[in-house]
Amino acid sequence: MVAYTFTRLAAAALPLVHEWLSRPHVVEWWPEPEMQAAQIDDHVEGDDTTPYLVSLDGRPFAYLQCAQLSDDTLCLDQFIADAALLGRGHGSGFIRQFCDEQFASPEIKSITTDPAPDNARAIRAYEKAGFRRVGLQATPWGRVLLMQRDKPS
Ligand SMILES: CC(C)(COP(=O)(O)OP(=O)(O)OC[C@H]1O[C@@H](n2cnc3c(N)ncnc32)[C@H](O)[C@@H]1OP(=O)(O)O)[C@@H](O)C(=O)NCCC(=O)NCCS
Repeated sequence: MVAYTFTRLAAAALPLVHEWLSRPHVVEWWPEPEMQAAQIDDHVEGDDTTPYLVSLDGRPFAYLQCAQLSDDTLCLDQFIADAALLGRGHGSGFIRQFCDEQFASPEIKSITTDPAPDNARAIRAYEKAGFRRVGLQATPWGRVLLMQRDKPS
């Protein structure tokens, strides 16, 4: 089984992530790179969302962020930076592994994510990582499909 490493994003790596945000396959689903970059800067500064670099064999290839929605629920968002690695099982793989690691904390019972309803690749990847569809929700940035994975009992 492939093992991924999650490293808390440090300020020194922000230029790398800013460049990733400008890549067309990322902009498609993470629009407005400058706004996204400013938000990630805030996460690194220590707001309520924790940003991570995801690495494989020591090489960072994806970004993941995790926020606490409530006492027992986390919310994830992520993208693969290297377009050559899309659709090869890495997204579902690292998301599943990250969730498994979070569920090791007794207080965490559920993890959610909210892709755009037309992001079929992301929805399929989340289903492969153990998430189920909860339903469509209206948000200030448009409709999303709320998906949730519950801790195995
Ligand atoms: C979303 C993302 C992290 C998923 O990671 P990934 O490694 O590409 O996904 P996986 O390979 O694990 O799984 C993708 C699945 O979707 C399928 N798929 C690919 N394109 C698809 C499409 N257009 N429609 C439906 N399914 C599609 C793949 O075949 C695969 O399913 P399968 O293994 O059953 O064949 C990655 O695609 C990504 O970073 N996308 C760009 C940014 C983004 O969308 N971020 C998420 C915002 S919510």
